Amino acid sequence: MKSLRLILSVLLVLFLVFALSVVGLAQEENEKTEITIAGGSVGIELELTKKAARMFEEEHPNVKVDVYTTPDLSDDRKGLYLQYLETKDSTIDVFQVDVIWPGELADHFLDLNEFGAQEVADKHFESIIQNNTVDGRLVAMPWFTDAGLLYYRTDLLNKYGYSEPPATWTELEEMAKTIQAGEREENPDFWGYVWQGNAYEGLTCNALEWIYSNNGGRIINEDKEVTINNKNAVETINMAADWVGEISPPGVTGLVEESSRKMFEAGNAAFMRNWPYVYALASEEDKATAGKFDVAPLPAGENGSSSAVLGGWNLAVNKYSEYPELAAELAIFMTSEKVQKMRAVEGSFNPTIADLYEDQDVLEANPFFGDLYQVFTNTVPRPSAEAGEDYSAVSERFFQAVHSVLTGESRAEDAIAYLELGIEDILED
Ligand code: GLC
Repeated sequence: MKSLRLILSVLLVLFLVFALSVVGLAQEENEKTEITIAGGSVGIELELTKKAARMFEEEHPNVKVDVYTTPDLSDDRKGLYLQYLETKDSTIDVFQVDVIWPGELADHFLDLNEFGAQEVADKHFESIIQNNTVDGRLVAMPWFTDAGLLYYRTDLLNKYGYSEPPATWTELEEMAKTIQAGEREENPDFWGYVWQGNAYEGLTCNALEWIYSNNGGRIINEDKEVTINNKNAVETINMAADWVGEISPPGVTGLVEESSRKMFEAGNAAFMRNWPYVYALASEEDKATAGKFDVAPLPAGENGSSSAVLGGWNLAVNKYSEYPELAAELAIFMTSEKVQKMRAVEGSFNPTIADLYEDQDVLEANPFFGDLYQVFTNTVPRPSAEAGEDYSAVSERFFQAVHSVLTGESRAEDAIAYLELGIEDILED
């Protein structure tokens, strides 16, 4: 009897200790400051952001970082952000922002120079710091940079007797046709060239690359004149329209980064235009492309030179955040050398810190960072600085016009002439 009582009291004490520690832990959790970062989840992006968030938490035991996932397409992501920013909402503290947005969204973000960013800013590519500086305010820290690249199947180039990737669009057309005809015998789903032809920001990037590589300009020039209505631009858009259904699937006019990546990784395309993040993913062992592809600069037009559009993402702090200092600290940490290195090695996200292009681990994981360094530092910017707050409207007019030619709804000459007037209208208002 006595011993039973003893056992029961021991059990009771144990239970009380356990219950108290659970309550204690929960309280500790509650006492943590919670901040939220909104970012992309293209490929393994989300996983890497979560990993970096855990790294920050380790250094800040009283902080919990929530990662908020956002739509893949840049245009959709901005639409979502605006719902928060326009209502001065504080839910999201740190936003992952596209390189084309600072001009449009600057008013909603804090000046990171006021939070110590100027001490680290000079490690980053100067052009991106400049891009993110609006009226003297650094509204976003560079996180990773992007440039359009040509992915190609090394095994297939070999098989069909080509020793080099195509240097011009004409060469690409010829090679794509030959490889496609050969591979179709065994694989009816095989296509020569895939790219991003859906009506969205990604098409603006693709089409600007075709046009600029053929000396057709950047839609708007540095003096803010609309230059898109020129012969080279019209010819180049016609060139791409001819690819549809010939070397590119008819559905290319609905393809985006992720869907084109999946076609390529499944072994169903000889060539693909995409951003660097695909390199790590297409190298994974379970992919048909593992060990069988490489990257090269995009082909040049007959009248011009290879051109890669500047893409990339940055971290901005919400002006309405309840924790501006902590949020700025998180943005600076996430864009630091340590985190950029991890993201480069594991996800082939291009650093914005020049030193990392000489880091052995980074180069081992991504030999092309070294080989194509010139491509990454000589990118063609979209006209976001020239169009300022009107950039999205200009880009949308542009990709809609190009899309209508790709789908055969309009003739390039008409679509471009009409586009010129449309953009002039937007810029005049
Ligand atoms: C990539 C680029 C970004 C661009 C987008 C278009 O995410 O980094 O700058 O706007 O693609 O789809």
